[in-house]
Amino acid sequence: MIRIVLLGPPGSGKGTQASALQKRRGIPHIASGDILRATVRDDTQLGRQARPYMDRGDLVPDTLILDMMADRLSQPDAGDGYILDGFPRTVAQAEALEQRLAQIDRELDAVIYLRVPEAEILRRLSGRRTCPACNAIYHVDTMPPQRHGLCDSCGAELVQRQDEKPDVIRKRLEVYTEQTQPLLLFYRERSLLHEIDGTIGVDNVVDTIEHIVAKERAPVQEQTA
Ligand code: AP5
Repeated sequence: MIRIVLLGPPGSGKGTQASALQKRRGIPHIASGDILRATVRDDTQLGRQARPYMDRGDLVPDTLILDMMADRLSQPDAGDGYILDGFPRTVAQAEALEQRLAQIDRELDAVIYLRVPEAEILRRLSGRRTCPACNAIYHVDTMPPQRHGLCDSCGAELVQRQDEKPDVIRKRLEVYTEQTQPLLLFYRERSLLHEIDGTIGVDNVVDTIEHIVAKERAPVQEQTA
């Protein structure tokens, strides 16, 4: 099983390609944003703490995220691999993930950075619709659902996310540049980073990711053969 991280600014397509990869390969797609939105919806203590940060486009504090992700990554389905979407997002989070993997003598196979120009990001986010029940992602122009406003997978009514107001999108992009972009250097220094064009269509992006992972794993498979 593979362990990969998808990195990229808001709207670069992390959730969409992770979900497509999950469907193709059966690897769990673990999205910190989806987990947080569920806690907000369920009005849990974590949700009440996280909501103000999310609503204004800031990152939720590392202490909350690290406990939440430690819990998620220790669930049985994550034992053999995962696609991480939205985590890690700060250097402290990346260091914590690295330590966790070292403790179980595992490492990441690859970190994929989805490169998408800002104009395309704004177009994508303004037309995105999501399913609050199963987290499926659509776009009103380029990936519309079959029935207007309804999720193809579960039939729930699609919504626009709370953090899709123009000023909050701007803030999220700033926060990405300040706090998440440094991870490109962090993973480049560890020879894990692969930068790919995130504008080439979902199937092509997923093919490229699979190709990268296969190449990264080839030496390991040769050694164990
Ligand atoms: P999160 O939910 O992680 O949001 P994000 O990183 O800002 O990313 P998005 O979900 O907005 O975009 P995406 O890259 O997944 O793109 P998508 O696939 O939807 O985080 C939300 C908030 O939670 C944060 O602001 C923060 O407060 C908090 N949070 C979460 N994780 C945290 C952490 N680790 N630490 C601290 N705080 C945290 O695609 C976008 C659109 O583009 C869709 O309409 C889609 O149809 C379209 N599209 C996608 N791919 C393609 C393609 N290849 N071609 C054409 N269109 C495409």
